[in-house]
Amino acid sequence: MEVKEEVHLKVEEKYQPPAQLVERVWIKDYESLYQESIKDREGFWAKVAEELHWFKKWDKVLEWNYPNAKWFVNAKTNITYNCLDRHVKNGRRNKVAYIFVDEDDREKKITYGELLELVNRIANGLKSLGVKKGDRVSIYMPNTIEAIACMLACARIGAIHSVVFAGFSEGALRLRIEDAKAKVVMTATYTKRRGKKIDLLATVQNAIDGLGFVEKVVVWDRDGDVLNGSGGLFVSLNELIKNSSPECEPAQMDAEDPLFILYTSGTTGKPKGVLHTTGGYMVGTYFTTKINFDLHEEDVYWCTADIGWITGHSYIVYGPLACGATSVITEGAPDYPNPGRWWSYVERYRVNVFYTAPTAVRMFMRFGEQWPAMYDLSSLRILGSVGEPINPEAWQWYYKHIGREKCVIVDTWWQTETGMHMITTIPSYPSKPGKAGKPYFGVEVAVVDNKGKELPPNTVGNLVIKTPWPSMLRTCWGEPERYEKYWNTIPGYYLSGDLATYDEEGYVMILGRADDVLNVAGHRIGTMEVESAIVDHPAVAESAVIGKPHDIKGESIKAFVILKKGVEPSDHLKEEIKQHVRHILGAIAVPDEIEFVEKLPKTRSGKIMRRVLKAQELGLPVGDVSTLED
Ligand code: PRX
Repeated sequence: MEVKEEVHLKVEEKYQPPAQLVERVWIKDYESLYQESIKDREGFWAKVAEELHWFKKWDKVLEWNYPNAKWFVNAKTNITYNCLDRHVKNGRRNKVAYIFVDEDDREKKITYGELLELVNRIANGLKSLGVKKGDRVSIYMPNTIEAIACMLACARIGAIHSVVFAGFSEGALRLRIEDAKAKVVMTATYTKRRGKKIDLLATVQNAIDGLGFVEKVVVWDRDGDVLNGSGGLFVSLNELIKNSSPECEPAQMDAEDPLFILYTSGTTGKPKGVLHTTGGYMVGTYFTTKINFDLHEEDVYWCTADIGWITGHSYIVYGPLACGATSVITEGAPDYPNPGRWWSYVERYRVNVFYTAPTAVRMFMRFGEQWPAMYDLSSLRILGSVGEPINPEAWQWYYKHIGREKCVIVDTWWQTETGMHMITTIPSYPSKPGKAGKPYFGVEVAVVDNKGKELPPNTVGNLVIKTPWPSMLRTCWGEPERYEKYWNTIPGYYLSGDLATYDEEGYVMILGRADDVLNVAGHRIGTMEVESAIVDHPAVAESAVIGKPHDIKGESIKAFVILKKGVEPSDHLKEEIKQHVRHILGAIAVPDEIEFVEKLPKTRSGKIMRRVLKAQELGLPVGDVSTLED
């Protein structure tokens, strides 16, 4: 995409946060603290880190050997100690950590004291299976307390978790288990969505077929009717919990010891295993959760993401637990059994902070405001948004029909790689619908052209980050060169891959990806991954995939497909190809549209020019085609 295009915006509205909210926010004066945090970045983050528990303090806050950072050098801690023990020791033993509700409206609550015991039992169970510090454990589980406990159990003993979203299918799961060389896979017998049971165990069985390095599959037997004393490869989580001690010393982790791998899509190749480490990630997620959601002791907080994505890791698990918050989590579809489901929980649990994605807001817009109108949403104070730009119409609807014009909307721009919020409107200064806000404390961003020249306000360019931050990714698992690419493409900067502008007041507006990464319903999907799944179908010779604007999902997938010689195109075949993608990758990656074509636009070196396809599809100027083969 060409940068340097001028964007002229109409005079925009600003929304002031309500006075009673500003009165008690943790940080009232953004500007002066921001300046301070930039002047003394290390001092700033050290002060934040002081709020957490360290077995041993750092010798140095930051060691920056471009592009490699070490934060809290030589410090020792355990993130689960900060998320659990610290609270249990300080009066929160009986405070509810999670309120879980399933699609059948069955509720389960767990306190900090109980969660610590559960985590310890699982941690001891993992130890008994031979899991050690540094071993990888893949977790393929539904959004439940049990899944969170499994993540924390890994962190307790220093094993590296790699959570795979349970909506992914066996191909995507296998690839991630294989890449991480997971010693143990943790799963559940099933999850439920729209009233249907989805068999997770069967998917795991297929995914690990022939992977000799997987030593054990730990299964949460949800109804206790599948694993009847089975031995060998499969171990019952229920039994492990029952038979293990509720006490487990937290491993002394170096601040730079790996905490988890989370796979995410890039422009090329297979998904990258983004690696996050212990200390910096803990500090970043703790502080952003507390400040940006203005979390106070009595609050009920609800992030509607799934633990399978970074939003779940940072803002369902680690951030809120580090803050000692009470969180709501749910399993299943937001609009099942009816579109009032979420709002009924806001009313029932008196939710104060609600964090969701624009795609969900747009879906509820379509259902109509009569659904939220049926419920008392007056407990809400802060509404968060994440995953994609929130269009002003959705922003207004969210503000009016969910926030009832009394809440602050906190848009949060960040990525799997950044670990924590990087650009956001903290709840103490006015927000502008459609603009993510200003850079976070200690974070310096810029909008630059392809050569790295900083661009003036209101000009489209690459969004880059100029300096290291504590929860930045440290590497890509097994592929350090892919990590370096973030910092080497435009030397001197971390390249986010997004296009953005900023205005005279410093508000950043995100315009979407500059590369071939799709954002479907807030989920990041690589064009290459979908293309490979399509080409895997025996009738297909070649394929190219583009994203098209979509009213609810933000983007939908369209695939152009060249069939093998002699194969007859048909609607039936289109369905078959879609099913094939569903089987390999999962429902989120299935193209909405398939078009059979004879040829694809390529460069002379054979690279598919997706941008040409996209321009043609959307009736836009095709741009520079001098490299086009024909
Ligand atoms: O394009 C941006 C978009 O989501 C990308 C990151 O995707 P992922 O790593 O899956 O993480 C999603 C959850 C943080 C970004 O490169 N994105 C994320 N948040 C926003 C956003 N775009 C605009 N506004 C946001 N608030």
